[in-house]
Amino acid sequence: MKKMSALSAYFSHSGNTRVIAHQIHENIGSDIFEIVSVDPYPSDYDEVVEQARKELSEEYRPKLRTKVENMESYKVVFVGYPVWWGTIPMPVATFLTEYDFSGKTIVPFCTHEGSGLGRSVMDIKKFCPQSTVLEGLAVRGSNVKNAQDEVSGWLQGLGVKKER
Ligand SMILES: Cc1cc2nc3c(=O)[nH]c(=O)nc-3n(C[C@H](O)[C@H](O)[C@H](O)COP(=O)(O)O)c2cc1C
Repeated sequence: MKKMSALSAYFSHSGNTRVIAHQIHENIGSDIFEIVSVDPYPSDYDEVVEQARKELSEEYRPKLRTKVENMESYKVVFVGYPVWWGTIPMPVATFLTEYDFSGKTIVPFCTHEGSGLGRSVMDIKKFCPQSTVLEGLAVRGSNVKNAQDEVSGWLQGLGVKKER
């Protein structure tokens, strides 16, 4: 992959995925963007687990508070999220439907506590059938602070170079 204009977009509820998004940003000099829902999710674990289950089963699309103004300028969009119920959280589903990703390369990355990427990459492909969706990276949430080498090795494997 040659020099490109890349965005590292992420949703994070408790901060793990944010750490990985910043590692990507620092590694390749991509822009960075946080996907934030208008209505915040509860911080109580049981409450957010139940809300996420309901939103997934109802295919709910929460409204987002943040917007990428120049999406057309990015060829590569890293999309990061915690795995929720085996797939992407619904704010990420909203994000994928709000922009035209056709012709772009989407690079998934997630944090999780055991299920790896789960069904998330398959679901991203369903939302973005006209995009090239690459192999994703899965990092254990409890291990994000030690993941720099894993992240840079993965980026090297993808052939992504640092932007100037
Ligand atoms: C609502 C909810 C659902 C989750 N579902 C899964 C799951 O299906 N598989 C898994 O491995 N971890 C699951 N987790 C754990 C998170 O993916 C993990 O803690 C992640 O690192 C959190 O990232 P964040 O700090 O960026 O929000 C779930 C967590 C929450 C809050």
